[in-house]
Amino acid sequence: MSEFAELSLGDKKYQFPVITGSEDEKAIDIAKLRDETGHITIDSGYKNTGATKSAITFLDGELGILRYRGYSIEELAEKASFLEVAYLLIYGELPTTTQYAEFENAIKTHTIVNEDMRKIFEGFPVNAHPMGVLSAMVCAMSAFYTGDKSGSDELNIIRLMAKMPSMATWSYKKSQGHPVNYPNNSLDYCSNFLNMMFALPVATYQVNPVVAAALNKLLILHADHEQNCSTSTVRLVGSSHASLYASISAGINALSGPLHGGANQEVIEMLEAIKEDGGDTSKYIAMAKDKNSGFRLMGFGHRVYKNFDPRARIIKKAADDVLAALGINDPVLKIAAELESAALNDEYFVARKLYPNVDFYSGIIYRALGIPTDMFTVMFAIGRLPGWIAQWKEMKANKEPIGRPRQVYVGATERAYVAINERA
Ligand code: SDX
Repeated sequence: MSEFAELSLGDKKYQFPVITGSEDEKAIDIAKLRDETGHITIDSGYKNTGATKSAITFLDGELGILRYRGYSIEELAEKASFLEVAYLLIYGELPTTTQYAEFENAIKTHTIVNEDMRKIFEGFPVNAHPMGVLSAMVCAMSAFYTGDKSGSDELNIIRLMAKMPSMATWSYKKSQGHPVNYPNNSLDYCSNFLNMMFALPVATYQVNPVVAAALNKLLILHADHEQNCSTSTVRLVGSSHASLYASISAGINALSGPLHGGANQEVIEMLEAIKEDGGDTSKYIAMAKDKNSGFRLMGFGHRVYKNFDPRARIIKKAADDVLAALGINDPVLKIAAELESAALNDEYFVARKLYPNVDFYSGIIYRALGIPTDMFTVMFAIGRLPGWIAQWKEMKANKEPIGRPRQVYVGATERAYVAINERA
């Protein structure tokens, strides 16, 4: 039975169809709203506005559910490899053994980055933030790897999955004054990344399996999150039929913001500041509640999750496990747990449904893995890459129209030009 929403404007009534998703989510289809009523809707930050129908990721903010193509994040984080999850997101199904081998081999065939790209990279200052460098290098790929006629998108998908981790490590090596490492195709995806990050020509670098497993889990947890800010950016840029590289580069820039993926760096800097300030978490809880302080409890709150972020729960446990396995006693982990406990018992946070999000504990693990703070959001981008690709691919496959929101104009009404010598 078709469902409708009825809108009354003045003495007129209008009906708009209600659509129901596979998880019983409801939406009012307003495609004909302006034509029929002369009105548009307005919804700053799109808090109540659906941009698309998607079959990739489902999340329920009230119940703390997150599934990629129907598989729970808990199961995937525990049992899958990041490349399996990347395949699942991009192509819609978990790969068979043969499909996985072909996918992994295709990526390994493209891990080397064009040496001329390094000339672009060398132009960046040593203290350049790695996110700015990464977005520029990914955008530059559209100049080096123009669409191959035999399925350009597919080859570009493989090139991005293969080369982004390689380029991501360049910033770190440059910041250390160390030579960059070439990819080593005898290693799996995560071990190859760690080797490129930390291997030095003076000794053989051994990848610690605990570190590789933790990285695998973190990348899976970050792989997609439906229509978040950076993914919506990728879809919007891609809707103009801009290249995959241009779209992903835009997504990297959106992710870099401190309210989004940049929060994981902000969290560690916040925890360090609290530690340096004597570890008085109550002082910072009070600041976070004071609108005039300009301070926010970074890593807390979420547009969708209003009870808990399932990823934060998994990462918190992983942080305990990884630090114990590596024999690391990081005092900021204790401060983080104290902050979480204080906030979860404070009316300000409870009333606003503010809980730890994916960024709250992730930095503690990245730091334990030896990854520097300014690379945390780069790690988020490497994890989110298959999700961005999958969403871009779905938008194109569904032939979605170019994204072009409307507005309500509140500026000056018509007025005549006044010559400059006659202006007050
Ligand atoms: C990510 O969308 C996604 O799915 C994103 C992400 C993904 O995987 O792609 O999950 C990744 O971006 C996680 C979020 C990381 N950002 C942070 O940790 C930054 C700190 N958090 C916030 O700035 C905020 O909570 C947001 C940006 C995450 C959500 O912002 P909303 O939904 O626009 O909520 P809001 O800013 O309107 O806040 C509602 C209220 C306000 O108070 P009142 O005006 O009602 O009195 O809650 C307050 C805010 O002041 N508030 C906070 C707070 N977050 C919100 N107060 C103190 N500390 C905070 N962290």
